[in-house]
Amino acid sequence: MLSVEGLEARYGGARVLNGVTLDLRRGEVHAVLGRNGMGKTTLVRAVMGLSSPLVTAGEARLGDARLTGLPPHRVARLGVALVPQGRRLFPSLSVTEHLTLLKPAGARTGWTMERVFAAFPRLAERRKHRGGQLSGGERQMLAVGRALMADPTFLLMDEPSEGLAPVMVRALETVVAQLRAEGLGILLVEQNLYSALAVADRVSVLETGRVVHAASAAAVASDPGALTRFLGVH
Ligand SMILES: Nc1ncnc2c1ncn2[C@@H]1O[C@H](COP(=O)(O)OP(=O)(O)O)[C@@H](O)[C@H]1O
Ligand SMILES: [Mg+2]
Repeated sequence: MLSVEGLEARYGGARVLNGVTLDLRRGEVHAVLGRNGMGKTTLVRAVMGLSSPLVTAGEARLGDARLTGLPPHRVARLGVALVPQGRRLFPSLSVTEHLTLLKPAGARTGWTMERVFAAFPRLAERRKHRGGQLSGGERQMLAVGRALMADPTFLLMDEPSEGLAPVMVRALETVVAQLRAEGLGILLVEQNLYSALAVADRVSVLETGRVVHAASAAAVASDPGALTRFLGVH
């Protein structure tokens, strides 16, 4: 289990996470929802061990191993991968290069490039295309494929549906459901409430760096108002 306990983090003098507590099991999709600026990206960056934000209290753990304090490549080696917001691809590198050159040293071997291509046939067709030549949906698939090459057991996905056409959002939901079925635990950061609810088992709402509401997806389905109040949507 991936667990986050009382996590506090800041950028310079600005505290952005104010004690986030949540957990994520294998074979589960846990959606983290919240309006813009509430700390969602900061949370996944802090879990991943990226150098900013600065974590000032609390911790993230993977089973018995403390993640907080480790550099990102060590967190990755323990089995946590991030699909960053905005995809963060290299415009001049090909699909194949994204999947091979950036495979972290010491990664386990469960995910190979051929397996990524089998999961995303569209990427296989485009394997020689450069990052800058891909559509939004293809870029997101490549960002997911790249993260899978690190062989994670937990995947942190930061607003994967952002900027995608509805048909690509549906395709992404299918991918998330498949990965969950394979036993991955997925922390799905979303502003798109409906896409998140289509695949989530549990939902937490982040507001000014704190979880203010947590519920099962079933509870949300039977009483959506309890959730939408926090998000300012209907
Ligand atoms: N690199 C940074 N330096 C300073 N402040 C930042 C930085 N990144 C984000 N912030 C601030 O931290 C807060 C939370 O941001 P973020 O985690 O990106 O929110 P979300 O992903 O929920 O939209 C916002 O007020 C944002 O302006
Ligand atoms: Mg964000």
